[in-house]
Amino acid sequence: MTGPPTAADRAPAVPDPGVAAKAATLAEALPWLARFHGRTVVVKVGGSALADPVRQDHLAEDLVFLRYAGIRPVLVHGGGPQITQALEHAGLASEFVAGLRVTSPEALRVVRMVLVGQLGRDLVGRVNRHGAFAVGLSGEDGGLLTARRRSAQRDGAEVDLGLVGDVTAVDPGLLNTLLADGRIPVVASLARGTGADADAVLNVNADTAAAAIAVALGAEKLVVLTDVPGLYADWPATAEVVSSLTAAEVERLLPAAADGMAPKLAGCLAAVRGGVPRAHLLDGRVPHALLLEVFTDRGIGTMVTG
Ligand SMILES: Nc1ncnc2c1ncn2[C@@H]1O[C@H](COP(=O)(O)OP(=O)(O)OP(=O)(O)O)[C@@H](O)[C@H]1O
Ligand SMILES: [Mg+2]
Repeated sequence: MTGPPTAADRAPAVPDPGVAAKAATLAEALPWLARFHGRTVVVKVGGSALADPVRQDHLAEDLVFLRYAGIRPVLVHGGGPQITQALEHAGLASEFVAGLRVTSPEALRVVRMVLVGQLGRDLVGRVNRHGAFAVGLSGEDGGLLTARRRSAQRDGAEVDLGLVGDVTAVDPGLLNTLLADGRIPVVASLARGTGADADAVLNVNADTAAAAIAVALGAEKLVVLTDVPGLYADWPATAEVVSSLTAAEVERLLPAAADGMAPKLAGCLAAVRGGVPRAHLLDGRVPHALLLEVFTDRGIGTMVTG
């Protein structure tokens, strides 16, 4: 029977719970949008978190989302597994000391080709499906990263790592120009040498490169996306993740940090000591981990504060 509308007809429709949850999540983002608008967020992604094209697409979407939200994202990428595979293909072995890849001149050519010519290009392409945002560069470009050759300790002995460096200077001019133009820089972790190595290109760990860039840009946040849920308290014995750490705690953990985690902790420490308020280690395999971290109250992964 039709007739005049009743009070029940005029009452707001109760949305289904899924829709209500989506609206709540969007509303939850409001304070974070206000806080991060116009700020710089440096994101480091590791090769393992890039292994799957679907993950690369999610990351590209998140970066573009940040950009449309008025945030200035900078992506710095590694490429460990892809480099290892390309080296194998070229008949070259991979050796790591304290989480750093021993890099001969032949290996460096492969590292450069994979990072700049392959992974960097892929990431730029995926971001640019959403608009002309991404610009790919190597840390060698425009004086962005300068590094000094470094060695490492194994069982108390000094080991020569070849063409591996520690970032000693960051010139953020090029990045600031790109950011001011609304671009999303995508940086491969290579650097120009200095002093006797001024003509050399050095392989620098992408975690520490991202941290140095975050400090130089006065970033609001450093987000390190990897293939584990965060820092394992007692790795490899248990899978319990540490949810937050102070810089002083990271400093105490550093001497015992293993493999890929050592440069990550060192990077987070350098970032917060250099004035970046927060550094996060997140699982890059989780879809949209970056959005969850930036725009929701849900603490995920491991957070390092000053
Ligand atoms: N305490 C720890 N907690 C978590 N992971 C740890 C720990 N100690 C060592 N690891 C290792 O660190 C690895 C992550 O570092 P890894 O260098 O392999 O990747 P990435 O830095 O994300 O990528 P890329 O080197 O390509 O930039 C983990 O997969 C894990 O095996
Ligand atoms: Mg690594």
